[in-house]
Amino acid sequence: MSQKTTEVLDGNAVGDAIKADLADCIDTLTDADVTPGLATVLMSDDGASETYVSMKQKACEEVGINGFHYELDPEAPAEVLFDKIDELNEDPDVHGILVQMPVPDHIDKRDVLNRINPDKDVDGFHPENVGRLVAGNARFKPCTPHGVQKLLEAANVETEGKDAVVVGRSEIVGKPMANLLIQKAPGGNATTTVCHSRTDDLAEKTLDADIIIAAAGVPELVDGSMVPEGATVIDVGVNRVEADNEKGYELVGDVEFESAKEKAGIITPVPGGVGPMTITMLLYNTVKAASLQEDVEVELP
Ligand code: GUN
Repeated sequence: MSQKTTEVLDGNAVGDAIKADLADCIDTLTDADVTPGLATVLMSDDGASETYVSMKQKACEEVGINGFHYELDPEAPAEVLFDKIDELNEDPDVHGILVQMPVPDHIDKRDVLNRINPDKDVDGFHPENVGRLVAGNARFKPCTPHGVQKLLEAANVETEGKDAVVVGRSEIVGKPMANLLIQKAPGGNATTTVCHSRTDDLAEKTLDADIIIAAAGVPELVDGSMVPEGATVIDVGVNRVEADNEKGYELVGDVEFESAKEKAGIITPVPGGVGPMTITMLLYNTVKAASLQEDVEVELP
């Protein structure tokens, strides 16, 4: 009897390889007296958001990007956040600005995204950058979908002509992921279906897929019964669920890993799959932003 082997992708290893190439780009920039700078703004008491932002700052430090971090009172009026964004837009040491989402309910997220100078919008969420992505002329590809694309490339997963199913339609992952997959470009050319909370029969769609990208924010939504034999399964979910441990929670993805692994040819774990790639691509966009703003050419990986 032949033993089925499933490849479990290592996002840390792929991310580290890209970071090594980014370090060369950063050397080129520093030789030209430019140190890339990333400003992060956190206006939330949410523990997960705090963790994500501190991981982003730590990653900057590791590769030689200047990190600037600001924490704003979540109760403060929107003007406080807008003033901070205006200040960072003007600051020549800051090449990238990231306002961690979600922002408090009394602030309209769209006003925040519109306020960031699109040249410094390393998330790729400003309407100008969204428009460029949709038009096939991206300046900053949003970090998580770009990271997924790089992971697929590293694992030699062909997208061209394949059936991809994206589960989730968020601005941050689902929509830009689908846009990248349909581009007439490497890592694109996939026949792409976007499923969401109103999809009638999710399993019917996923069972037809060569590539499943789960990004719905629903713990273990996709299980083995929904995965066709040999499919590539990318799990973007990071859900905190209650657990009987010291922290009181554990992280689970949008995919039920054990049952999905029985069917998949390639799968990503949570943690250690897409997460490290998101952070790596934020560094990538910050390096790109510095290169464009300072007019110093670099060879991005
Ligand atoms: N919140 C969850 N993911 C992200 C992200 O990629 N960027 C920002 N700014 N906020 C987030």
